[in-house]
Amino acid sequence: MASVTVISIGAMGLGIAKVLQTQGHKVLTSLQGRSEATRRRAQSANITPLENDATVISQSDYVLSILPPADALSTAQRLVSAYASDPSLRAGKSHPLYYLDLNAISPHTARSIASIFNKEAPDIVFIDGGIIGNPPTPPADGSLVDANVWKRPSIPLSGPPLTSAPVHGDSLAMALNTTYLGDAIGTASTLKLTFATLTKGFTALALQSYTTASRAGVLPELQRHLDDYVPGVRDRAERGIVGCTSKAGRWVGEMEEIGKAHAEEGGWGDRARVFGEIARVFEGVSEVDGAGGLKSAEEVAVALGQVLKE
Ligand SMILES: *[C@@H]1O[C@H](CO)[C@@H](O)[C@H](O)[C@H]1NC(C)=O
Repeated sequence: MASVTVISIGAMGLGIAKVLQTQGHKVLTSLQGRSEATRRRAQSANITPLENDATVISQSDYVLSILPPADALSTAQRLVSAYASDPSLRAGKSHPLYYLDLNAISPHTARSIASIFNKEAPDIVFIDGGIIGNPPTPPADGSLVDANVWKRPSIPLSGPPLTSAPVHGDSLAMALNTTYLGDAIGTASTLKLTFATLTKGFTALALQSYTTASRAGVLPELQRHLDDYVPGVRDRAERGIVGCTSKAGRWVGEMEEIGKAHAEEGGWGDRARVFGEIARVFEGVSEVDGAGGLKSAEEVAVALGQVLKE
């Protein structure tokens, strides 16, 4: 089967690694610039650790980049430089290395990364992608044999088609639950970020609404009015508020990328600066001590209000 290097093994990377293993693929990861905890997590999940970028290039058929958005470009650049300085790393391989960027980056950033590959490592095939949804989870019966029965995120892709990749491209495209959006780099990233505009953007609005209502003592009244006039919205808001607390730090960069997508791809220019400001909302949440342990939207509103006062 294929050898797939997943960088890095966070919650999403680990879930995707397991789905790939279910289909019989070999999963590896790079330890370059990673902690001892990553090494242990990889080993306990049967993921082969690779010491550096050179071994990633020589031993992989595919690289999946799954990182905080701010690290996407530098990680790609590092790999490209390793390859450019020693193209013999692929000697003896009859097929090209495929690099899938699955990060929440703006289409502009995706194109910048693609052009680094084109200029410095044209033999590596670059595919643009995004991940919509939560990390894969196995079916209730614990069945590990078929990726299709797992609950998986959707992975839109654009650029060269993965299904045409020589080393089990079809199997990989299926296991990853991919949707092909055409050959333009940036299309998949645009879909990912326009989706997140509504989901995470709404959560940012909810955080502001709840925090302000809480400080003014009208949160219970706000909740009652939401229930009466816009059924479903309160539930959605509160799930978003509680659910974002442990991820808020990572979302700061994603909101900035969303802002770029609207400014450039959507033609909003300066008028789309709102997502730069929304990034600051999640930054506020990331400054709440022990935010991940808060269990209700009311508690988050109070704690966030406290941070804003400081
Ligand atoms: C695969 O992604 C689609 C969206 O493209 C989603 O509707 C579906 O639930 C996902 N499939 C699985 C098995 O998780």
